[in-house]
Amino acid sequence: MKNVVSFLGSPRRNGNTETLLNAALAAAKKEGAEVPPAFRLSEMKINPCIECGGCDGTGICVVHDDFQVIYKALKEENLFILASPVFFMGSTGWTKAMIDRCQSCWAGKYKAGKPIAPPSPERRGIFLSVCGMKDFNVFDCAVKEVKAFFAVNNIELAGNVLVPDTDRKGAISENMEALARAEDMARELLKSDSVPGDLPGGHSCPG
Ligand SMILES: Cc1cc2nc3c(=O)[nH]c(=O)nc-3n(C[C@H](O)[C@H](O)[C@H](O)COP(=O)(O)O)c2cc1C
Repeated sequence: MKNVVSFLGSPRRNGNTETLLNAALAAAKKEGAEVPPAFRLSEMKINPCIECGGCDGTGICVVHDDFQVIYKALKEENLFILASPVFFMGSTGWTKAMIDRCQSCWAGKYKAGKPIAPPSPERRGIFLSVCGMKDFNVFDCAVKEVKAFFAVNNIELAGNVLVPDTDRKGAISENMEALARAEDMARELLKSDSVPGDLPGGHSCPG
């Protein structure tokens, strides 16, 4: 059975990001995947990277907090969904703190010769995001952060669902195209022989 591990970077319970993520997870479950509850990053204790260099020789972070749980999932599992809204043109602070702590994975891969997991076509992830503004460029920084996060962990970024013009809590529930796209993307994630294509028009679903 395939496991789909997900990370939720929004602090707003039942907000737009969580609803989008739930659509993807429900579709994955329907396809027979095992879908453990998302890691709610805002409810975990994940400190920012303190740049101590303690991971340089090993690839293992020496700061002990909930990042260890995330590290274990990144190491042992293959299929991932990262979901974060845009806050000030990037991902949220909780998402960014988790990504920054993957400096240990960077050190493992590039300094210690000990990547978190070998590169494999089986290791894939998708990114789901929403933002309030109408401009598709608003996602640029967050997409770059997520690309780096996945690359450092030898995970192929297989696709994005990016939904602008989604500010009010609940707005995403009225966007059937975006919810359907998240479901499609999750189904594609489970297919080992298929990489989802991006939506025409900037990888994004109109809000
Ligand atoms: C602190 C903060 C910063 C934000 N910054 C941006 C931004 O830079 N660009 C944008 O389009 N929307 C921005 N937004 C709007 C959110 O992306 C939007 O409300 C989104 O629906 C929140 O998702 P959620 O319901 O999953 O929490 C910001 C919201 C907050 C609370």
